[in-house]
Amino acid sequence: MNADFRKSVVYQVYPRSFRDSNGDGLGDIRGVIQKLDYIRELGADYIWLTPFFVSPQNDNGYDVEDYYRIDPGYGTMEDVEELIEEGKRRGIGLMFDMVFNHVSTRHEWFVKAMEGDPYYKDFFFFRKGKPDGSAPTNWQSKFGGSAWEYVEKFDEYYLHLFDVTQADLNWENENVRREIKKIVRFWMEKGVKGFRFDVINLISKAAFEDDADGDGRKFYTDGPKIHQYLKELHDATFGAGDGIITVGEMSSTSMENCYRYAGADTGELTMVFSFHHLKVDFMGNEKWVLVPADFGKLKDILFGWQTGMAEHNAWNAVFWCNHDQPRVVSRFGSEGELWKESAKMLATIIHCLRGTPYIYQGEEIGMTNTDFTDISQFRDVESHNYYRILQEKGLSAADALRIVQIHSRDNGRTPMQWDSSKYAGFTDEGKSEPWIGVNANHTKINAAAQTGDPDSVFHYYRKLIALRRELDVISCGDIEPLDKNHPSVFAYRRTYGDQELIVAANFYGRDCEWKGAPCLDGFSKVLGNYAGETKEEDGALQLKPYEAAVWYRETEE
Ligand code: GLC
Repeated sequence: MNADFRKSVVYQVYPRSFRDSNGDGLGDIRGVIQKLDYIRELGADYIWLTPFFVSPQNDNGYDVEDYYRIDPGYGTMEDVEELIEEGKRRGIGLMFDMVFNHVSTRHEWFVKAMEGDPYYKDFFFFRKGKPDGSAPTNWQSKFGGSAWEYVEKFDEYYLHLFDVTQADLNWENENVRREIKKIVRFWMEKGVKGFRFDVINLISKAAFEDDADGDGRKFYTDGPKIHQYLKELHDATFGAGDGIITVGEMSSTSMENCYRYAGADTGELTMVFSFHHLKVDFMGNEKWVLVPADFGKLKDILFGWQTGMAEHNAWNAVFWCNHDQPRVVSRFGSEGELWKESAKMLATIIHCLRGTPYIYQGEEIGMTNTDFTDISQFRDVESHNYYRILQEKGLSAADALRIVQIHSRDNGRTPMQWDSSKYAGFTDEGKSEPWIGVNANHTKINAAAQTGDPDSVFHYYRKLIALRRELDVISCGDIEPLDKNHPSVFAYRRTYGDQELIVAANFYGRDCEWKGAPCLDGFSKVLGNYAGETKEEDGALQLKPYEAAVWYRETEE
């Protein structure tokens, strides 16, 4: 494992969909152990594992019932200990996913609160409704509908920013904060090397007021005590640990707050996930629409975060995919003839940026969105809610389905495609069916077909990871956007001491000319998705469809 997080690459595993070792149709911890060598071959330093704690699984484990026990569907504590140990043997650190904005309504704390125990009621936000009996505020749940649920016996509502079975925790309460620190320390003692904190910037709620022009997020996003809470957690737990890396998932955050969340010496977190660049195919904050991706906006946002965070000595996590996002090759690349080129192009853009790259399972083999044609094939609570809400707003079932197909989180949750067998090697044939359908394209897109092919997407990711480790300019250098307004080129320069790197990508599936290209004298091409040199004519670079290339030089002083 690389001790320097700037040189590290994180591989995200969504265990439910990764590998099912016991044939019950659900991925599990032993399945992850079976595939550790694959992750080592790719070259990742850390595995971020999404939650596998005891949970009713209404939100696939993000509704935690018990932070100290393993959900039997995923395995046992011994399995988890073995995973940590086996990872360590291979130089791979485990990062666990801590969901502390809310707990499952089946968590003991909430159960006791519902029994009327005042100590535990104060772990949550129970509030009286308005005089007319309606919810305390007009805030909307991120999964659709009101963020408040009425409890008749108290004549009060409780707050749930997500599903109704995910009750928000009251971090104002010191006892809550103490419990949370205990949980983090427990997992540190097990040898965990990092943490990902789920929607952590939502934990400090400001006033409970109606939002006149929004869904309520301005009252709880990057809230008034957020930095205080994070510092406190840092100091009491991972900050005192030995080289533990942390990443905060920051929902609708601002860059100014991220300077502090992920500043080199602010004593909060190592890095942040921000999502603004993945809203370029939304309408404002509205995800459930069909809007073409805005390339200019994508560049503006990514470059803005790159240079802004660098100026403030703060660190980004850089990524296209996770378990909440559609597959990037379907989203910004192509599923057609140029599938491979586009997957490699997108990888190049992310992996040469300033930040720690995250690869989401299957991304490294160019997995695509689902091929589901019926709503019954979707599993995600959010997709089902919005399928209904869109129709309530007047859309036809077919139009609602089309929007769900494009934006559903299930796009990233279909089983990992290991091979071309019936269930893609996710689960063994003849046992149970996978919990969610396997994409039919697994006969072509699968790991077995790629690990032995030096020209594969998989090997391209390997090379990118190796390059980051080899060249300090990638891990530590400054970044300067190039020709920002070009309609199809995504390009930037990295510099570090005497090292210089130029990265250029044609974002589209047609030839393009880059007149503003810098002079490449003295550079050599160190990576690209087309063989041979990139064509140069009269000082302009001629980029092929989805072409991406990386050039490097060391200047003599
Ligand atoms: C985060 C998780 C997502 C989950 C939500 C609520 O956004 O990534 O999967 O549904 O938080 O915990």
